This record gives sequence, structure tokens and C-alpha cells, in this order.
Amino acid sequence: MNNDVDPVQPETRALFAPLTIRGTTLQHRAGVSPMCMYAAADGMVDDFHLAHLGRFALGGAGLVIVEATAIDPRGRISHHDLGLWSDAQIDGMRRIAGFLSTHGAVPGIQLAHAGRRASVREPWFAGAPLDESDAAAGRAPWPVIGPSAIPAGPGWQVPSALDAHEIAESIGQWVAAAERAVAAGFRLIELHGAHGYLLHSFLSPVSNTRSDGYGGDAERRMHYPLEVIRAVRSALPESVILSYRVSAVDGVSEGGLTLDDVAEFARHAVAAGVDIIDTSSGGISVDRSTDTRVRRGFSFHADFSRQLKARTGAIVACVGLIVDPEQASRLIEAGDADIVLLGREMLDNPNWVHHARRSHAADEFDHWDPRFGSALGPRLRTLRRLAETGETPLTRFAQHAGQ
Ligand SMILES: Cc1cc2nc3c(=O)[nH]c(=O)nc-3n(C[C@H](O)[C@H](O)[C@H](O)COP(=O)(O)O)c2cc1C
Repeated sequence: MNNDVDPVQPETRALFAPLTIRGTTLQHRAGVSPMCMYAAADGMVDDFHLAHLGRFALGGAGLVIVEATAIDPRGRISHHDLGLWSDAQIDGMRRIAGFLSTHGAVPGIQLAHAGRRASVREPWFAGAPLDESDAAAGRAPWPVIGPSAIPAGPGWQVPSALDAHEIAESIGQWVAAAERAVAAGFRLIELHGAHGYLLHSFLSPVSNTRSDGYGGDAERRMHYPLEVIRAVRSALPESVILSYRVSAVDGVSEGGLTLDDVAEFARHAVAAGVDIIDTSSGGISVDRSTDTRVRRGFSFHADFSRQLKARTGAIVACVGLIVDPEQASRLIEAGDADIVLLGREMLDNPNWVHHARRSHAADEFDHWDPRFGSALGPRLRTLRRLAETGETPLTRFAQHAGQ
């Protein structure tokens, strides 16, 4: 790689500015958002995960966050989620963290408990709750838990409400999973506090109607997530970054969390030890009649991340239809976010970061891994030459037709 060449142009300079948090440097601000792949058996990493996540590091991502990884088998969304509820799951994760680090990405992992939204089918089966028909195929439903006995929507399981002892036990599971993630080599741990899963369900009045120390008013609804944050932070080495994904709004027609509520929580979360607030939205209800989700435009969480950044002073990540390098860079420059996370765009184009650098650059591939760049540079020059001569991929057939 030729490090003398800086292909970054003014339009994307803010995107390619490094960011150091707790002594760990992200080479630039574009990361891969956590995305469940439903490819694990018994929560174990296999070659699929290594290949899938590895290509993002090879593609130049500065941060790769492994998908929602269950801290407890009951906290899996589906039978095929990854897990870190057991020491046996560390070795596979170590391969991923090691590969990502070797190839220049900060290795991150999202720890999760799906709470009352657990025990469902994969999205390509509409994400519906598992039922007895799935049991016949070896994918039996399992009992789900939550703050209160309120299901996520019509036809969903009624969760059993955690008692004080079970809450303490579950905080221990968050800590144990975080320690395993550190043992595996991850340098950023994200707690999944969004999308209606366990942490979010304690925070939201839609799903938490408790009257003990963990519910009853806004402050008490924060207790469980804040206890988890404090316990995890105190178990992490100083150098490990702690991120927390929030749903900035519940997006339900009545009674859900507003941005003001979530900003207030985020302030407490930062005081409790969170370094990054990762901004998403929605998920508390799967009831289509009440779910009024945030409109999907470009950068659709940027108004929220901007507010959370202004109101917490924290480092803030933004996700949601970020597809263009200049768009990403301007989000950073404008103070809408410090880090941009890309999800589906990265699935479509794992080399997005390399292309983002090149799109405004000097036509070369010097910033790519030379295994790829040394082949792609000459190929690009050949393509340019052919374009000048007017030759296209279909020219050969036109010639044949004329014979
Ligand atoms: C296949 C898929 C799986 C996802 N899994 C997770 C997940 O594990 N954790 C999470 O917080 N968000 C998850 N999401 C949401 C993404 O992280 C991201 O916030 C969302 O796709 C919007 O960003 P995008 O427009 O760049 O895709 C998932 C999204 C997709 C498409």
C-alpha cells in the first residue's frame, strides 16, 4: 500500500478523519451496523460469520459491529442468533475479532437480550412468533421474559415479568457476556438498548407497567438499563469502548417514549459510563395499528442523533439509509453525528469505504489491500482505454451479427 497518496478529497475529509476513543483509534468514521444473519447453531460462530464480517474489514470499514449476540439463550431473537452466554462461544468470536483487527477495523460486538420479542422466525418468514408448527421442525418456541406481562403485539407470547432476583441474575449475564467479549478481543461493546428488546422494554412505558423499583415513573424505568450499564462498565477494562443503541423515539401512536425522554435517559447513560450513543428508533410495538414508525428517508435518524449529541455531549453514531460518501461526510461535518453506521448499503457493497475514498480520488487503488488494488488498478486503466476506443462488453456480439 502506498501511504504517500492521500486520495481523500475535501468532500469526504470529515468522513475520513480518525477518531480516538479510550485510546482506540477508528481510522475513519464509517462503520458497519450490527445485522443479524440468523446463521448460527447453538449461538456458535462458524465460517459464514467470519467470511461475512471479514469482507467488511477487507473493504476498509473502520469499525465492524457483530450482530445482536445473545447474553442468554432465552434472549435470542431466533434459534439461529449468535450467543455469548457460554465460555464455549469465545473461541469462535476470537477468530472474528482477530481477523477484523488484523485488517484494520476496530472489532465491535452488540450484546443483546430480545426480551418479549424473542422466540420468533427469521425475517424471511415474516419474523412471526414461533408456535407449535415450528416445534415439529425442531424449532420449538421458548418462554419469553420482560418487565411486565404485556405482549409485543397481538398473537405474541405474554412475557413472564422478571422478579428482583431474576433481574439481578440477568445483570450478571450481561456482565459475563461482556467479559467473554473482552476475552475474545473485542474493543467496542455495544449494549442493544433499542428495537423493543429487553433493555428498551424496561425503559418504555408501553411495555413496563411495574410498580416496584424498576417501574412506575420515568426515573424508575431507567433503573434496569442503568444498572446494566454500570455493571458492564465496571467489568470492562478502561481501554474498551462502551456503546449503547437507543431507540430515539418509540414511534407508537400513543404513550411511547419521546425524544425528550430518551435524551434524558441518554444523559444518565453517559454519566453511568457509556461512551457512544448509537441512534436508532422504534420496535417497542409490533402492532401495526399503533406502530407509526419513523419515515424512511435518507439519513432518517440524523435529526435524532443531532439532538442526542447536542443534549448529551457524547460521541454519537447515526444509522439509517446512509449510502453516499458525501452524505456521510456532511453528517459528520454538520454535527449530526460523529460516526456513521451503514447496514444494508454494506451488504450491497462491502467495499463501500474503499470506493468512498476512490470516488473523489486519483483513479488509483493505493489505499486498497494490495492483493486487490494491484489487480484492480490495471483493470481500471484497461476499462478506461476501451471506453476511449468505443469498445463495450457487447461489441463482440455486434461484430458476429454483422458477419
Ligand atoms: C438484516 C438486518 C439485520 C439487522 N440486525 C440488527 C441487529 O442485530 N441489531 C441492531 O441493532 N440492528 C439491526 N438491524 C438494523 C441495522 O443495524 C440498521 O440500523 C438498519 O438496517 C438501518 O440502517 P441501513 O439503512 O444502513 O440499513 C438489522 C438490519 C438488517 C437489514
